[in-house]
Amino acid sequence: MRLAVIGGSGLSRLEDFEQVRRETVLTPYGAPSAPLSFGRLGGMEIVFLARHGEAHTLAPHRINYRANLAALKQVGVTHVIAVAAVGGITPKMAPQTLVVPDQIIDYTYGRAHTFFESADAPVTHVDFTYPYSAELRRRLLEAARGCGLEAIDGGCYGCTQGPRLETAAEIRRMERDGCDVVGMTGMPETALARELELEYACLALVVNWAAGKTAGIVTLAEIEQHLREGMKKVRKVLKAFLSDLE
Ligand code: HPA
Repeated sequence: MRLAVIGGSGLSRLEDFEQVRRETVLTPYGAPSAPLSFGRLGGMEIVFLARHGEAHTLAPHRINYRANLAALKQVGVTHVIAVAAVGGITPKMAPQTLVVPDQIIDYTYGRAHTFFESADAPVTHVDFTYPYSAELRRRLLEAARGCGLEAIDGGCYGCTQGPRLETAAEIRRMERDGCDVVGMTGMPETALARELELEYACLALVVNWAAGKTAGIVTLAEIEQHLREGMKKVRKVLKAFLSDLE
């Protein structure tokens, strides 16, 4: 297994990560969000990629998801843990909850969402019934349990276009659709990983109640506070995950 961690908001860097080298990888799809960072965490060698760039300057719709996944594939990555900050829609998904989703719905548009578009290659339809790797999900949940943290097993991630947050009506519709949490970066990332036959799972941290789920509006201050607190838990789970592999 060669593991990559894609860090989202609040996780542009991994504490305790002993970086050995950085590599700027070019792909046929352009440059990834940041140079790939190679190093050790919890005794295991991993590759880290900051999804929004190292200075968090790339909005969700401007991320070159294809370059990110292609770059990881090029350096031999086989397994990807995608860390994501999300809003909570259904009652169990309160801020600070950790979730390992098992389904996803794509509400994004205009993003380069497939590797299969060459005019002279045969059309390929990958199976996407179960969008996340069952094995990687199981191991993430075990790692959380192992360090005394609760992570919800399953849930549907609804991926919106952003960068604006949703209206209350959009969230009500997403809830009727079956979404439990809402984020902006799960797609096309998850589908592209499948196209490249990468084992991929998401470790999501709820950082706010989604629009209309509280009396007020969604504030950045609230999100940032939950990000700071919650990412400590995410780091713990990642470390436990990597220690379990040894
Ligand atoms: N909506 C969309 N993406 C998000 C949210 C949200 O409420 N919180 C964190 N990422």
